[in-house]
Amino acid sequence: MKKIVIIGATSAMATETARIFAQQGATLFLAARNAEKLERLADDLRVRSGAQVHTATFDAHDLGSHQPVMEKALAALGDIDAALIAHGDLPDQRECERSWHAAERSLATNFLSPIAFLTWLANFFEGRKKGNITVISSVAGDRGRQSNYVYGAAKGGLTTFLQGLRNRLAHHGVSVTTIKPGFVDTPMTANLKKGPLFASAESVGKRIYKAMTRGESVVYAPCFWRIIMLIILHIPEFVFKKLKL
Ligand SMILES: NC(=O)c1ccc[n+]([C@@H]2O[C@H](COP(=O)([O-])OP(=O)(O)OC[C@H]3O[C@@H](n4cnc5c(N)ncnc54)[C@H](OP(=O)(O)O)[C@@H]3O)[C@@H](O)[C@H]2O)c1
Repeated sequence: MKKIVIIGATSAMATETARIFAQQGATLFLAARNAEKLERLADDLRVRSGAQVHTATFDAHDLGSHQPVMEKALAALGDIDAALIAHGDLPDQRECERSWHAAERSLATNFLSPIAFLTWLANFFEGRKKGNITVISSVAGDRGRQSNYVYGAAKGGLTTFLQGLRNRLAHHGVSVTTIKPGFVDTPMTANLKKGPLFASAESVGKRIYKAMTRGESVVYAPCFWRIIMLIILHIPEFVFKKLKL
């Protein structure tokens, strides 16, 4: 894979994946919200690996800006072998319960914005007839819990969208990869108490790289989350609703 687009490239996990692609000689197109952070990352990749790195900024809440970003990526790279969508935010669940505006913002960042990018990417790759699209969803989308069900609903919707997209694009030689991390130590979880279930951004970034190059379908990262979520999914509803999760 030589020409890679990373949306939400300043995410700690995506940055780790970008580093590996750059070391492997890929040309990168990185898009992110914060121009300063993005340029720092691009310069670092250029200096460390000699990679060619193009950049663009976008805000997830400006859905109309997404298609122009993708057109800029295609113009800069000439072609796209694979794309990773990584941006997201963890909203304050309590705030989302008080105000549907907060819920709306989270749904825009975590669901609508990825779908705006995916619509362009799906049509591009359908015509290209090969390649990979990878998106970071979350284990939170596997079952709604009282502590984060607005975020979980956005990620659950995204996971379902990706299932359908995988089914559609499999007929055109294109793989669609859903990454479902558990707890990862990144700026997003800076306020959470860390425990043994936390993985590093570096290890998950490596796993994302492997999944993209292999064109895997659904990847729990780390893999033990597949077992944890299998158990959580099988707790009967009459028990589950009494738990404080
Ligand atoms: N950390 C976890 O435990 C965990 C678990 C499961 C899934 N995930 C998912 O993993 C992905 C990567 O997150 P991370 O853990 O690596 O956290 P992170 O380092 O905090 O990255 C979050 C990224 O999302 C971007 N972002 C947030 N709001 C945005 C907006 N309105 N417009 C554009 N970009 C926006 C941030 O941009 P700035 O750099 O400008 O802030 C940053 O690049 C997310 O989709 C997240 O939901 C994380």
